[in-house]
Amino acid sequence: MNFISIECEELFLDYMNPNNPFGQKKDKRIENWTSLLSKIPSLENAKSDLLSGVIIKGKCNGSDEEAIENLLSELLPWRKGPFKINNTFIDSEWRSNLKWDRFLELDLDLKDKTILDVGSGNGYYAFRMLGLEAAAILCLEPNLTHFSQFLAINHFIKTNKIRMLPERLEALEMKETHFDVVFSMGLLYHQRDPSKHLNSLSNRMKEGGQLVIETIVASNEYGDYLEPKGPYASMPNVHFVHTNKGFMDLAEKEGLKVISNSTEVQTTLNEQRQTKWMPFKSYESAVLETHQDITVENFPAPKRKFYVLEKFS
Ligand SMILES: C[S@@+](CC[C@H](N)C(=O)[O-])C[C@H]1O[C@@H](n2cnc3c(N)ncnc32)[C@H](O)[C@@H]1O
Repeated sequence: MNFISIECEELFLDYMNPNNPFGQKKDKRIENWTSLLSKIPSLENAKSDLLSGVIIKGKCNGSDEEAIENLLSELLPWRKGPFKINNTFIDSEWRSNLKWDRFLELDLDLKDKTILDVGSGNGYYAFRMLGLEAAAILCLEPNLTHFSQFLAINHFIKTNKIRMLPERLEALEMKETHFDVVFSMGLLYHQRDPSKHLNSLSNRMKEGGQLVIETIVASNEYGDYLEPKGPYASMPNVHFVHTNKGFMDLAEKEGLKVISNSTEVQTTLNEQRQTKWMPFKSYESAVLETHQDITVENFPAPKRKFYVLEKFS
């Protein structure tokens, strides 16, 4: 059976060789990653709980247990998670479960749905989507560190219902395949042309399908959007942070209507922080030490919000 469609299946022709999961990609780290991935011990009778987290349990001996922790720690930095594999707890920079909890509040049914997750990171959310019994999830993620983390975690979970393509949305050669639900979380504010991004996402939606956007929203005082013209919360490449009104207008111009949304939640050091598994600069250096609702560039601290959209009929 094809993964989602013949067209989708064909995108993976380069990536099906287990000895060369990176296909034709060129990166000096690939040789090291391929060797590392081949050394990760397997778990006997592995079972995963993807509903309450990404938790994997299986039998292995003490030295394999140690090897799992050491090999996975070589795939630093772990930005999204957490993942638990027996006694190894990958305490990622983001507690992505908190974002997932906010998505769950929208009560969108993913059971038996085909899903496209654009900018999927290491697949943390895709595993949680599978926990909600989604039929199949295509992840797009151009960052090869995240891609190798996905391969490492799926070495234990072994699902064929999630596949990750290490490509950008713009490079996705797809014409006939449409998805029940399309996700774009944490991408909109990085776009130079946000309308084009919404249009590309909308082109991949089935008629009657849903688009889930998770983004940072600016306060109404900014009109349609905040344009930082430099870093925002220490993040480079932030072009437009839309206000709620600005986002609604943008969506409407692309023929999309908001059918539900979540409340805005300010990022805190509880949700994003430096850890042993992501030992570099994190949210601590994005906001003022004394005023955590102000960024180091003197903008309001990021508040994140989910929108669920459908096409106007
Ligand atoms: C801020 S992270 C968000 C990750 C995850 N979706 C989340 O919400 O936690 C944005 C991700 O999108 C990926 N990305 C950036 N541009 C992309 C594009 N044009 N197509 C697909 N993915 C992209 C990046 O590599 C990065 O992993």
